[in-house]
Amino acid sequence: MRSEMENDILKVLVTEEELKTRVDQLGEILFEKFQGKNPLFLGVLKGSFVFMADLVRACQVKSDVEFIAVSSYQNATVSSGRVQITRDLQQDITGRHLIIVEDILDSGNTLAFLKEYFLAKGASSITLVTLLDKPSRRTKHITADLAGFTVPDEFVVGYGLDYAQQYRNIPYIGVLKPEVYAGN
Ligand code: XMP
Ligand code: MG
Repeated sequence: MRSEMENDILKVLVTEEELKTRVDQLGEILFEKFQGKNPLFLGVLKGSFVFMADLVRACQVKSDVEFIAVSSYQNATVSSGRVQITRDLQQDITGRHLIIVEDILDSGNTLAFLKEYFLAKGASSITLVTLLDKPSRRTKHITADLAGFTVPDEFVVGYGLDYAQQYRNIPYIGVLKPEVYAGN
């Protein structure tokens, strides 16, 4: 496929085929765990939208979907540490089994905050699913229940993940060339 963005990518970390295989596996695991439980898939916007779309189709349980949007990066590549809800839940989650769908677990700030928030809102159980895990940068004591891939300490884009809101539509996970974000 022709791509305007290919030149900005230093290397590919996870290919389209690897993503597909792993997302299907995660869907199977979630099916076994949640069949008959009517879980709520809760995506953390914007980064999770591509993963969410593939994961819910890989997991054919009766379920519904919800989104919450948070912001902590403000166009930088390092978390500011403050998590702000920019689009709140649009439904009551009391008594629901939540499957939180994240693009990447990095410092842990976002998920540590959200976990507390959802428990306070009355969720029955919380299962954290992240496509990517970057454990080297963790500052909060939090682990995913399911992680697709462990990635090294590099800023990654594609498959929903952005740099300054761009590159989300790249179909694989890649590392940007440093000159693309130099001076930021
Ligand atoms: P924390 O640090 O709160 O980060 O665990 C979670 C959120 O930060 C974003 N994030 C990234 N986005 N490339 C991205 O495009 C990265 O390497 C990266 N690391 C963290 C992401 O949106 C995630 O939800
Ligand atoms: Mg992001």
